[in-house]
Amino acid sequence: MALLTRRNLLKASAVAGAYGAGMTLAPRLSALAAGDPALLEASIIEAMLDGKGKTRNVMTYATGPLGADPMPPVLRARRGETFATRFVNRLDEPTTVHWHGLRIDNAMDGVPFITQPYVYPGDSFDYAFTPPDAGTFWYHPHCNTLTQIGRGLAGMLIVEDPKDPVFDAEVALTLRDFRLGGDSQFIDQFKARDAAKSGTFGTVRTANWQPSPSYDAPSGGLVRVRILVADVTRLYNLRLSGAEALIVAIDGQPVPVTMPLDMAVVSPGQRLDLVVHMPDSEGQVVALEDIRPSTPKTVASFRSVGSSLKRSLGDVPPLAVNPAPEPDLSNATQIPLVLSATAEEAAKDSICGSLGYSFWAINKVPYPGDTPDPMAPLAEMKLGRTYLLNVENVTPHAHPIHIHGVNFKAVASSTRKILPLVSDTYLILPDEKVQLAVVADNPGDWVFHCHIIEHQKTGMTGYVRIV
Ligand code: C2O
Ligand code: CU
Repeated sequence: MALLTRRNLLKASAVAGAYGAGMTLAPRLSALAAGDPALLEASIIEAMLDGKGKTRNVMTYATGPLGADPMPPVLRARRGETFATRFVNRLDEPTTVHWHGLRIDNAMDGVPFITQPYVYPGDSFDYAFTPPDAGTFWYHPHCNTLTQIGRGLAGMLIVEDPKDPVFDAEVALTLRDFRLGGDSQFIDQFKARDAAKSGTFGTVRTANWQPSPSYDAPSGGLVRVRILVADVTRLYNLRLSGAEALIVAIDGQPVPVTMPLDMAVVSPGQRLDLVVHMPDSEGQVVALEDIRPSTPKTVASFRSVGSSLKRSLGDVPPLAVNPAPEPDLSNATQIPLVLSATAEEAAKDSICGSLGYSFWAINKVPYPGDTPDPMAPLAEMKLGRTYLLNVENVTPHAHPIHIHGVNFKAVASSTRKILPLVSDTYLILPDEKVQLAVVADNPGDWVFHCHIIEHQKTGMTGYVRIV
């Protein structure tokens, strides 16, 4: 894996010089002065992930001294208010932080070479932005992404709205695998033959870095469960047993009409917000299950405690809506985007963690992303106009396709009935063609890629330019 050679470092710092903003000397978490933005630090730790032994070289984020819970903290921001953090890199390799699903300024988007330079070991970068949408989002690196997310760097970011309804309890669940051997240590993050198919699966499946955690919740109460699939590969078919639930938001965006949860497919990068109605009697167990045929598993469970609050799902208040620009479909420009395999298997040089292969392409061009010489944009869009992304999947695999900086609204699919949801990620199935409407209201270069990270890093990446 070509990551950091001296020559590449020099090349990268030449690029870094072109940006410059936001670089400061990094203080330690302990040396925080009043008035400084809160710190967010990435570092390497040992942690228990498989319930058996400590895993070395785990990567995590922290906002304070590491406590008993080693996983990246759930960050909280408020809609319409500035969120500021000084990110400090204590890893031994460069990184950046991307705020997945947030429609914020391009300079804060955290994509090396496209929006900012690397944050080198020991350096820091000040991120500040004002989220326009409330909901469940997340943050993760966009550099050497398979290794860095694979080793732990992925956290939930909740944007609150003062008008958000209050529930009887709230549980945040980050679902992900780790690839560990029997000795609890990391094994190779991917197998090339799997990267060329649906991706390489982890060996230890967790929710909140635990094999199958259980949470207490008030009997008869309404619990908001925020679910993030932060895995690099795995799709979940989620179902609840032992209670009823409503889907209230998908990918951070409140759904126009809440829907009962039957089974929801949630792919890497996506979020699902449920309101679960706990059973009335104490001691009942509600299980959140992944029922994908080859891999059924109880992901997490909830146990009712106390005397019943006697609520019902009919009492669930609507979430405050997010301000989405309305696409003008009568005036939309069509952009064809074909997702395919590529014949070219040559290693692409990327100093941000090349996997050494290209298996995938968008419009026939394989691009691993995060390289100092970005290819041409997939499309140029004019600020304020509506575009229809005609995305066609000619591969036999599903791809959770994700765009930065703007949302799309699903308009039509060739193979299924779809809801006109606004989102940052669309899971396109094999042989599906989908029309995704985008209002180009946020200027900048925005990455568009598959969120199965092996696909992203072996070619299924591109970007659009909004000017
Ligand atoms: Cu989670 Cu490029 O994104
Ligand atoms: Cu993919």
